[in-house]
Amino acid sequence: MRNTNQDVKTIYRKDYVAPGYWVDTVEMGFDLHPQRTHVATRLHMRRNHDSAEKDLILFGEDIQLHQLRLNGVDLKRSAYQRNKERLIISNAPDTVVLEIETSIAADKNTTMSGLYVSNGNFFTQCEAEGFRKITYFPDRPDVMATYTVMLRADKKQFPVLLSNGNLIEQGDLGDGRHYAKWEDPFKKPSYLFALVAGKLVCQEEKYRLKSGRKVLLQVWVEEGNLDKTQHAMDSLKNSIRWDEERFGLELDLDRFMIVATSDFNMGAMENKGLNIFNTKYVLANSRTATDADYAGIESVVGHEYFHNWTGNRVTCRDWFQLSLKEGLTVFRDQEFSGDLVGNATGRAVKRIEDVRILRQHQFPEDAGPMSHPVRPDSYAEINNFYTVTVYEKGSEVVRMYYTLLGHEGFRKGMDLYFQRHDGQAVTCDDFRAAMADANGRDLSQFERWYSQAGTPRVKADGEYDAKRHVYRLKLSQACPATAGQDHKLPFHIPFAMGLLQQDGSEFALQLESGKAHPQAPRSIILELTQETQEFEFHHIEHEPTPSLLRNFSAPVILDFDYSDAQLAHLLAHDSDAFCRWEAGQRLAMRRLLKLVKSVQNGEALALDDMFVEALRKTLVDANLDPAFRELVMTLPSEVMLAEEMEIADPHSIHQARRFVRASLAQALKAEFLSVYQDHLTPGKYKPDAVSAGKRALKNCALSYLLEWSHESTYELAYTQYFEAENMTDKVAALSAMLHCSSALQPQYQARRAEVLQDFFDEFQHEALVIDKWFSLQACAPSTDVKQIRQLMKHKAFSLANPNRARSLIFAFCNANPAQFHAADGSAYELWGDAVIALNKLNPQVAARLARSLDRWTKYPVAQQEMMRAALQRVATTKGLSKDVAEIVNKALA
Ligand code: PHE
Ligand code: ZN
Repeated sequence: MRNTNQDVKTIYRKDYVAPGYWVDTVEMGFDLHPQRTHVATRLHMRRNHDSAEKDLILFGEDIQLHQLRLNGVDLKRSAYQRNKERLIISNAPDTVVLEIETSIAADKNTTMSGLYVSNGNFFTQCEAEGFRKITYFPDRPDVMATYTVMLRADKKQFPVLLSNGNLIEQGDLGDGRHYAKWEDPFKKPSYLFALVAGKLVCQEEKYRLKSGRKVLLQVWVEEGNLDKTQHAMDSLKNSIRWDEERFGLELDLDRFMIVATSDFNMGAMENKGLNIFNTKYVLANSRTATDADYAGIESVVGHEYFHNWTGNRVTCRDWFQLSLKEGLTVFRDQEFSGDLVGNATGRAVKRIEDVRILRQHQFPEDAGPMSHPVRPDSYAEINNFYTVTVYEKGSEVVRMYYTLLGHEGFRKGMDLYFQRHDGQAVTCDDFRAAMADANGRDLSQFERWYSQAGTPRVKADGEYDAKRHVYRLKLSQACPATAGQDHKLPFHIPFAMGLLQQDGSEFALQLESGKAHPQAPRSIILELTQETQEFEFHHIEHEPTPSLLRNFSAPVILDFDYSDAQLAHLLAHDSDAFCRWEAGQRLAMRRLLKLVKSVQNGEALALDDMFVEALRKTLVDANLDPAFRELVMTLPSEVMLAEEMEIADPHSIHQARRFVRASLAQALKAEFLSVYQDHLTPGKYKPDAVSAGKRALKNCALSYLLEWSHESTYELAYTQYFEAENMTDKVAALSAMLHCSSALQPQYQARRAEVLQDFFDEFQHEALVIDKWFSLQACAPSTDVKQIRQLMKHKAFSLANPNRARSLIFAFCNANPAQFHAADGSAYELWGDAVIALNKLNPQVAARLARSLDRWTKYPVAQQEMMRAALQRVATTKGLSKDVAEIVNKALA
């Protein structure tokens, strides 16, 4: 039990011990009743002679134990020890058949982990440690077994009965009940177990694999949603084909199922053969889903499918290795989405979007109290480590192998990884070894990307020697101290770069002096392994503009003292789309930070023509991809600006950013209008990247136009709202009307109320659209704490549904900083109330929300005091889960 200051037990990576017993087979029988589900489990176990653990240790949580039989003999209560978390049998024989009978009240389970009921249907969620809420089991990922599962339930209430693998038998039991028996031929860890039972319908299709084998694909949803499954099905087929083509990996089952539920803590789950998804990542049609939703579905369907090899066939030895499967699988889903676009700019756009997520979310995490290495050394609650560091930075780490080893080299590494480890539970070191060995490379220094937390900074200095025609580039690296890691050793950093000429073309890059090699490459990857290194480029005829960290070749912060002119040059010419976009962001960031100071000092604000001109050129350049132009026109977010400041000032940041948007709108009114007109996409809605890019640019133009408060532009949005034939355009119009400067004008109040009401009325039966309705209001600059409390009382609001809680409360706390940091601290109180209420219902979701105050020490003292008080209030709440306790304790440490 916890002591009074709610310290929680820490688990360390260094303490790993192999399990005392292996499990070969698991047979389970479920008698499903919402109030009391009876579970009978038979385990065939055998001693692991290589383990230091001599006892037979099972985990179990919140379950009733009815019977325990070892090799056919009932175990008396004195024959084992049991506490709230564990059941331990000492002196067990080497071979054990263990029979366990347990029962669960699934209808009372509001945590959405283990077996739970959603809308009258049964679902399970076992990652990371939910299986122990179903039965006693050595619930750890290195225990892999084959499962046979018998499901019994009422026929009318639960006509559909699903579990992992293949359906081998089904039938009637008389008495209104029926059964289905499932067998999963592949060994798997318990976290991949799943069952679903209830009233569901499916879209299904026979699909032919490259090998000719036919498989059955199904997407299961609640009745009434079959008009929203096509995109998920298409995404699944694309995923199957992509993994065959890019990695030579085939679907190993005869049947692959996706099931959607509206009650889910995360995005989706890769249970073997039976992926369970949040409805948000399955359901879409043009009426209800936006382009972003379509893209999200494609990447999450891909992600879960790709786990079948990277995660399921080869899994993690322990949860410290989580990034082994998650970093790799995020890399794979990013590549999948990039490849599907099918052209270079589309790929670059995807890359920029991914980098933006990393910077917006992971960089702050790495600079805050929850900073941890990609492979953490300790945790109290593993659910708190499903983080952007493990996922997104983990993916960047995998991408660096790809960058260092090349397309073919990476594939060789993957092939060797599967050859060595198929069917095993392994570590990040095993993956690194496969990459190194397959390519004959020494990647020992690369290990630091797994063990050292924090975002490295790379400082670049360039010097041009006009006499020798040499450009000298000095690179130095440093990484700030993070919790428990004061001194960092140098990383192995792939640093892609090029040198631009005055006319925008690139110099040939030649690191040796002597004869000129005009055929030398124009873009190269330097390997920075020391604290400081120098590189000399020869035959550089005039002073170049360096294009650095191309394609964001490493997850670092790059410092280079660019002039405005150099940045404008890169923005206009760089062949590397990432650096081109980055140049625009740097120009904007510089101005925004200066303007924040001006706001703070009460000075007059002004925006220079040079910046406006640089953006104008991009905005109207018809040779550029619309999606790319939209990215350039999008200013760095308020959150990113806050991260750049010593002491964050959300209100001044908001004003400064608003000013820049309004100034651009004024200066580029005509351009925005014609871009708007030129990118209408009439006709049938198509979610492909090209059409989506056009809509994105058009709607970006619309949002700028509404920064310029004028009847005609407001009218434009109003008309678009009512005439929109797809959700992307409808939401964009609504968002512009609620979020832009003109939204603050009282004369438009009636119109705002009208569209909000109209939207609610039209979509009140579409839960995912009502989530948008809440989010749009939560993020509006005019929505204050009082209004959030009002919305929490709305009949459509529910804290117990994670999607709904996220749509209102998380959106407000994370994406409306100017209101969240209201001077009186009232929003921190709202945050505390919500965390405390959620803690009782759903600790995992509560702990996520708790993280909204991670960066509290970055704010002015007065705000800090109020945030600290709010954190303390939560920390001293009775009955705090270890999930929330770990987060707030770390924040307060
Ligand atoms: N493993 C899931 C994924 O990445 C995420 C998840 C974790 C879902 C824990 C549920 C619970 O894709
Ligand atoms: Zn995953």
